[in-house]
Amino acid sequence: MRQAPVVIFVVNEIAASFDKILTMDERVSEICNAQSIGAAIENMTLTATELGLGSLWICDTFFAQKELSEWLNGELYAALAVGYAEEKTCARPRKKPENTIEWRL
Ligand SMILES: Cc1cc2nc3c(=O)[nH]c(=O)nc-3n(C[C@H](O)[C@H](O)[C@H](O)COP(=O)(O)O)c2cc1C
Repeated sequence: MRQAPVVIFVVNEIAASFDKILTMDERVSEICNAQSIGAAIENMTLTATELGLGSLWICDTFFAQKELSEWLNGELYAALAVGYAEEKTCARPRKKPENTIEWRL
């Protein structure tokens, strides 16, 4: 995060507060919002790549979660560091699908 020229903080302004006990509807809404935010971040990383930029999706923001969320006025969900990458990465070999998917018929 220190090295990147740009860090985008992704914030959920309507997140339920940590100390609130959620109803089932509220819980589903939180789960839904988290998935939407994840999809949005994925789109941001794909667009960065398309533009020739490097990016790093960062979720281990717990070291300053409270301070950052207060500063940003919402619940910090992720930080996305963006910049010109110093090195070119190649795609890692993927696990064979038969080891990762279990088909239940
Ligand atoms: C939800 C999520 C959270 C991540 N959080 C971190 C993080 O906190 N720190 C980090 O160095 N990388 C983080 N990453 C990046 C991953 O470690 C990994 O580099 C990235 O998903 C690319 O995977 P690949 O190299 O297998 O394609 C995160 C990725 C995702 C999808």
